[in-house]
Amino acid sequence: MLRCKRNKFTLPPSVTYLNCAYMSPLLKAVEKAGINGLRAKRNPALISPEDFFTESDSLREAFARLIHAPDPHRVAIIPSVSYGMANVTRNLRLARGENVVLAARQFPSNYYPWQRLCHETGAALRVVAPPETFVNRGRQWNERLLESIDASTRVVAIAPVHWADGTRFDLAALRRRTHEVNALLIIDGTQAVGAMPFDIMHFRPDALICAGYKWLFGPYGIGLAYYSEYFDNGLPVEENWINRVESHSFANLVNYQSEYRPGALRYEVGEHSNFILVPMLLRAVQQLNNWNPEQIEAYCRHITQNSLNALKQQGFWIEDDAWRGAHLFGVGVPPGTDMEKVKAHLLRHKIYVSYRGDFIRVSVNVYNREQDMTRFVRELQKAVKP
Ligand SMILES: Cc1ncc(COP(=O)(O)O)c(C=O)c1O
Repeated sequence: MLRCKRNKFTLPPSVTYLNCAYMSPLLKAVEKAGINGLRAKRNPALISPEDFFTESDSLREAFARLIHAPDPHRVAIIPSVSYGMANVTRNLRLARGENVVLAARQFPSNYYPWQRLCHETGAALRVVAPPETFVNRGRQWNERLLESIDASTRVVAIAPVHWADGTRFDLAALRRRTHEVNALLIIDGTQAVGAMPFDIMHFRPDALICAGYKWLFGPYGIGLAYYSEYFDNGLPVEENWINRVESHSFANLVNYQSEYRPGALRYEVGEHSNFILVPMLLRAVQQLNNWNPEQIEAYCRHITQNSLNALKQQGFWIEDDAWRGAHLFGVGVPPGTDMEKVKAHLLRHKIYVSYRGDFIRVSVNVYNREQDMTRFVRELQKAVKP
C-alpha cells in the first residue's frame, strides 16, 4: 500500500483539500520543472532544434506507458479536451437517421462538440439520463446506456467515471456493444486516467482524450490524447509545420511537405513543444508511472472506506463501490438539507469539495489522509443538523 505523499506537494497544512476533480495541487518536482523551463528562455542560444522534439517524445512515451499503449506515436499533445474532441468530430461523417449516445450531464467539452455535429448533420443526440431512484442507480444507468445503443448508433462518447457524481461506466460492456453495431467509442479520460488503471488494449477506444491538470498532476493548458488507427488518414483541426514529416530539419522548412508525421502526430496543437508545460506534465506522468494508478486507486479506497460507511449509516447516499470511482464520488445529502448552510460551514472549516448538480463531489488523491475524510464527515454532520 502506498503511503501518504503529502510531503511531495506544497499544500498548506491548514487546508483539507478534497477536490482533485477540480484541479490537482502542484507536485514540488513539477513546479521545479516549470521554473527550469521558464528560465531556459533567458538564453535562447542554448535551445536547440532537437529540444523541440526530445521532451515531447518523452512525454508521449510516458503517457503511452501509463495507458499501456504500445505505440507512443498514437499519443498527441493537446491544449484541452475540447481541442482533442474537435479533432474527433472533424473526422466523422454522420447522417440523418443515425445517432450519438452520451450520458446525461456529461462535461460540456464532451457534449457541445456532439451537439454541433448532430445539429450540422441531422443526426440525433441521445442523452441517456440516470434513473430517478437512488437504488442501484449506477447499475441501472449503465443498463439504460446499453439499451439506448442500436443499429443506427455511430458513436458513444462517454467517460470512465462521471465527472459530477463519480458513477462508473462499464467501458468493456460499452465496447462490446459498440463493436456489435459498428459504432465508435470515444472516451473523455480526464477524471479517471492517472487515478485508476486504464488499459488501452483492454478497452480499445477509438480515441481517449484527457486534460492534464487534474489526475495527471500537470499544469493548466496541456493535455494528452490517444487516437486509434481509425483516425490515421484524418484531417487535423489546424495545420502546423512540426506535424509534417522532416520537420526536425529546420533549414528545409521552406520546402513544404504534403505528408504528416506518423500515427496521431498530425493532431497535435501548434507550438506543442511548449518548453514550460511539456517538462511539467512529463515529470508528473513519470511520477504517476512510478506510483502506479492501481496503487493510487487502492490508496484512495483505503482512506475513504470507513468514512463512507459512517456517512451511509447516517442517511447520506453513496453509490455502491462497484459503480463509483474510488477517487471521485458524489455524496447525496438527506432530504431537506440546507445546501447553502453546508457550503458555508465546510468553507469556514477550510474543507474544499465541489458542488455538482445535487451532489457534494468529493475527490481524494495521494496527498490526502484518512483524517481528511474523518474531518469532512464530522463537519458535514454538524452542517446538516437543523
Ligand atoms: C470530464 C471532464 N472533461 C474535461 C474537462 C476540461 O475540459 P477542457 O480541457 O476542454 O477545458 C473537465 C474539467 O472539469 C472534466 O471534468
